[in-house]
Amino acid sequence: MLKIEKMHKTFGKGTINEKVAIDNIDFNLRPGDFVTIIGSNGAGKSTLLNCISGVFPIDKGKIILDGKNITRQPEFKRSKFIGRVFQDPLKGTAFDMTIEENLSIAYNKNSFRGLQSGINRKQKEVFREKLALLGMGLEDRMKQKAKLLSGGQRQALTLFMAVISKPKLLLLDEHTAALDPGAAKKVLELTNRFSKEPGLSTMMITHNMKDALQYGNRTILMKEGKIVMDISGDERADMTVEKLIEQFEIDNDRMLL
Ligand SMILES: Nc1ncnc2c1ncn2[C@@H]1O[C@H](COP(=O)(O)OP(=O)(O)OP(=O)(O)O)[C@@H](O)[C@H]1O
Ligand SMILES: [Mg+2]
Repeated sequence: MLKIEKMHKTFGKGTINEKVAIDNIDFNLRPGDFVTIIGSNGAGKSTLLNCISGVFPIDKGKIILDGKNITRQPEFKRSKFIGRVFQDPLKGTAFDMTIEENLSIAYNKNSFRGLQSGINRKQKEVFREKLALLGMGLEDRMKQKAKLLSGGQRQALTLFMAVISKPKLLLLDEHTAALDPGAAKKVLELTNRFSKEPGLSTMMITHNMKDALQYGNRTILMKEGKIVMDISGDERADMTVEKLIEQFEIDNDRMLL
């Protein structure tokens, strides 16, 4: 569904700070894939997702989504079919708006109705049912402002908002890293559930190597702007955190084992 051909991205070209962040990457995401992405600090993981979502223009190469060349498409257009969640729980939701207003914006993102449409009773019922699936009691707090939620609840809501408009691609950049272990597990389980939505493919960056092998169906390892490992199937099933470290000489303080 997503095809990346010879993608290249250098920051600060021609300056003393010149940095090759993405080095000639070829990558093919299959429909329904849930890929976990690991790699040391500065390996290019976030840049890869930022290039796919159009935050940065790329220097060379092509990005094809469902047969369409989106290489030069601006970020706001790509956001119609790409959902994103970041590390910071404060980033994903509008602080001063209620849960149902946040959901309404996310739900209407791709329609012309936008904010003006408000929320009708039927839509509220749908939100309520879906919120109940999160298992956090948010369905009874729809009129409360998002700022009252805990980090884990906000991240769950953000994740829900990212998939409510039925994107083709879900990009997650360490979206559980700022949460306590219990909340992180809950949000990961939700991620797992959402990733099974028909027609959705998922890419998730994590520094937790166990999670990287446990969730999803495929794992890639990035090093200095390159994909140096891409495993799935039996090879992945047989992979352990210990073997990963040994084979790929992973050294990273932030890497969780
Ligand atoms: N906007 C930018 N301007 C200049 N350099 C950048 C920019 N974004 C990233 N870089 C550089 O590109 C390289 C790759 O960064 P990137 O953020 O993709 O790493 P990462 O794998 O996500 O690391 P981390 O695990 O620390 O989040 C780094 O050397 C970084 O300093
Ligand atoms: Mg990063």
